[in-house]
Amino acid sequence: MRAITTIAQLRHELDTHRATGATVGFVPTMGYLHAGHQSLVRAAAAETDLVVVSIFVNPLQFAPDEDLESYPRDLDADTERCRAAGASLVFAPTVEEMYPQPVWTTVHVGVVSEALEGAARPTHFDGVATVVSKLFGIVGPCRAYFGEKDFQQLAIVTRLAADLSAPVEVVGCPTVRESDGLAMSSRNVYLTAEERPQAAAINQALRLGCDLIRSGERDRSAVEAAMRAHIEAQPAARVDYVVAVDSTSLRPTDRLSGSVRVLAAVRFGSARLIDNMGIEIS
Ligand code: PAJ
Repeated sequence: MRAITTIAQLRHELDTHRATGATVGFVPTMGYLHAGHQSLVRAAAAETDLVVVSIFVNPLQFAPDEDLESYPRDLDADTERCRAAGASLVFAPTVEEMYPQPVWTTVHVGVVSEALEGAARPTHFDGVATVVSKLFGIVGPCRAYFGEKDFQQLAIVTRLAADLSAPVEVVGCPTVRESDGLAMSSRNVYLTAEERPQAAAINQALRLGCDLIRSGERDRSAVEAAMRAHIEAQPAARVDYVVAVDSTSLRPTDRLSGSVRVLAAVRFGSARLIDNMGIEIS
């Protein structure tokens, strides 16, 4: 399988397939694919006729001090992983193909983008929303698969598709983890041998938070303090945030109720890792 690099060619291929009645599944990625990305491709392949995976490290969603230059890349291995998981097409455009001129049009999704990652990385979600809008415009009618691993991103993209009447059905898929619970991420390669085992504390803390809620704790601060303490017991951990919020608005309420999401962002050395879990209070 070869990678398509131009927008015109991708449109042509997809139009040709759609003309035969085929449905399109779309998996947007930044590459350096792992089993988490592949699970999205498998879900898409199970539910649609033709799966396209985009591989594009989007400069718009990186702040100047972030890891745009060092973000890991391996197009040959990615193409093989896409094929193995059931994709038919890989779309790997250059930056010039996606952004041939200075970008004057950006997309901002309000409310749900403000807290958490939006507060920690103020330009990030406009970059994500802009590139995802472009990709939806390029790919056209499809089911688009996103991971719950990036829970706030999933909420933003779902809202974006609805607000812009995109001909896209956004599908959320569960987080794929390493055997010790660490959420798979392209950025896990930044972890040193000392940091890697400590990073498992993120998922342990989220499970601890869910267990506390399950056993009756409804005080948000108590749940957050317990999760934070568990992570901070690791010497290399620097917590950006660890919260328990309403899973729709992503806003805190003092008393936990209904559908709750626990989310954490933690730095280990040069790696900034995020993870989350959901729990329903009946
Ligand atoms: P990237 O980080 O490459 O992730 C691509 C997709 O894979 C996202 O939907 C993400 O949530 C999902 N994913 C990552 N790790 C996962 C895991 N362990 N289990 C399940 N799914 C996982 O997210 C982006 O790229 C970009 O922001 C993008 C949407 C492509 C826009 O540039």
